[in-house]
Amino acid sequence: MVREILKLGAPILREKAVPVHKYDAALQRLIDDMIETMKSAKGIGLAAPQIGVSRRVIIVLQDDKPLALVNPSIVQEEGLDESEEGCLSIPNLYAIVPRPSYVKVVGSDPKGKRINIEAEGLLARTLCHEIDHLDGILFIDKAYPETLHWVQPGEKSESKAG
Ligand code: NI
Repeated sequence: MVREILKLGAPILREKAVPVHKYDAALQRLIDDMIETMKSAKGIGLAAPQIGVSRRVIIVLQDDKPLALVNPSIVQEEGLDESEEGCLSIPNLYAIVPRPSYVKVVGSDPKGKRINIEAEGLLARTLCHEIDHLDGILFIDKAYPETLHWVQPGEKSESKAG
């Protein structure tokens, strides 16, 4: 089911999300809804708090396929990449955000099986952006302020927003 994406100002976007302990049907439903919602918004990532659920679950697009990560954390990061980024919860605002150019992330799949991901470039950026959401951090907190800019709706694809 496509869910409403909450926008800047919704208190849950500023809260620390709660770890998942039960790998059950409710978790799978949440993940299915998040994937549908992300696709519908044409985003490249989504975090559970963005649909009003304070759980540590994210979806990222990996090679154009949605990947669900439960309780993800960054265990290693290297380098610096300064690129443009946006957020589905702050539509039409973009900015340059400094991120590591490489990250190693550990987490679990929807069944509770351990996953390790190494990522560079846009996928590394998306992982950082979505994991920040789980701690109530938004890209505007880390963006270079002078680079923040609005675009007309539809002028830019959501291919940089998560
Ligand atoms: Ni976002």
